[in-house]
Amino acid sequence: MALVTKSIKGTQDTLPSESYKIQFVEQSVLEIAKNYGYKEIRVPVFEHTELFQRGVGDTTDVVQKEMYTFEDKGGRSITLRPEGTAGVVRSYIEHGLFNEAQPQKVCYLISCYRYEKPQAGRLREFHQFGCECFGTASPAADAELISLVNDIFAFLDVKNLKIQINSIGCPECRKNYHKALQEYFESKKDELCGTCLGRLERNPMRILDCKSPVCSEIAKDAPKVTDYLCDECHDHFQKVQQYLDAMNIPYEVNPSIVRGLDYYTKTVFEFVSTEIGAQGTVCGGGRYDGLVEEIGGNHTPALGFAMGMERLLLLMQAQGIEFPPEAKCDLYIASMGENATLKASQIASDVRGNGMHAQFDIVGRSVKAQMKYANKIGAAYTVVLGDSEIEAGVAKVKNMADGSETEMKIDDIAEEIMRLSINDSLKGFEVEGLDISTLM
Ligand code: HAM
Repeated sequence: MALVTKSIKGTQDTLPSESYKIQFVEQSVLEIAKNYGYKEIRVPVFEHTELFQRGVGDTTDVVQKEMYTFEDKGGRSITLRPEGTAGVVRSYIEHGLFNEAQPQKVCYLISCYRYEKPQAGRLREFHQFGCECFGTASPAADAELISLVNDIFAFLDVKNLKIQINSIGCPECRKNYHKALQEYFESKKDELCGTCLGRLERNPMRILDCKSPVCSEIAKDAPKVTDYLCDECHDHFQKVQQYLDAMNIPYEVNPSIVRGLDYYTKTVFEFVSTEIGAQGTVCGGGRYDGLVEEIGGNHTPALGFAMGMERLLLLMQAQGIEFPPEAKCDLYIASMGENATLKASQIASDVRGNGMHAQFDIVGRSVKAQMKYANKIGAAYTVVLGDSEIEAGVAKVKNMADGSETEMKIDDIAEEIMRLSINDSLKGFEVEGLDISTLM
């Protein structure tokens, strides 16, 4: 296939026949987040490279190996966002969102870009739904955030996800932990990859999520961060667990979760599946109390998460979860001749004015071809208009599900279609002894 008719490796299209699924998921997550007080924020696809170097951390895999960075025509170094948090924090500072009610809760649906090796559930362009909550240091906020993610998966009927939580402490406890890690990895220095050798001095915790098989094998026996927590971080972690218990949210403490980005402090968490292959982390997040300050704002405790939309859809498909059916065409108006087509355009416009879906012939095809199209798009009702129908002012509307036909005044069709459609949708909710036609 020619280069220009093939999408770039690691990217994928969402085709019209599939898009209703992602639309349903997007609407659901926004709605659930709204119930927790989150409002949508939209931020640019690209930012100054330095934002991610400082925010995500310049010893992370994301910054060292995976960013799409280029110089623009003005000579600035620009990066396509590899994740959403850094840009949202930048926006929080730039627009003084700290002056609004705190905690400030924002959510986003974004595309992200990482130059990773593509495989199932791992793309170079992927999509995230994320939430960020600014201005609270309370462990209740950590638990509320995990509860929000849990509600999303429950609403979507996604099962068997393990919630794994950990605490990676604050910069104070991190000092002792780093020392312990350096001692441990120093003794294995000869086996570490080149990138991890560089990390040994500056940020030994990053070795813990190196993707090289040798480094990850060595990392398995490394000291655990939970053994180095200061009293405050230990207490915070205990309280997060108390809140989760109080909300009946099942979780596991997994001391090896360190996350792949540098900004985390205290609580980190992941929602992990074993049903979609190696890339099983569907959602990840945690607290980042130092990030706002790191990027140039005032000290602001904050926390958030992001879930990968492609991984979520893969999982929903693997579990055979049914999506609510796509809204179908309510009425297709077939027409013969110009007069009839003009009338058809008017009826279609009236039906749409009532908030319903109508189509008529905009190609100039035979009635037979029009009806074939109506069938393909799954029209619920059809009507054929010709000169004789226009003259009589009456036409037969056909119910495509049972083949029955009803004669209607052409001028009443828009209203009648609305009545019939409501009637059809109520049929699933029949109550014994109640005649639904009396409700109409
Ligand atoms: P992350 O763990 O790097 O965290 O990404 C979050 C989620 O995005 C992952 O759990 C995964 O589902 C999805 N994801 C990541 N990389 C890929 C990829 N290459 N292909 C497909 N899906 C992918 C963050 O991005 C943080 N900003 C989350 C956060 C928000 N923490 C605090 N606030």
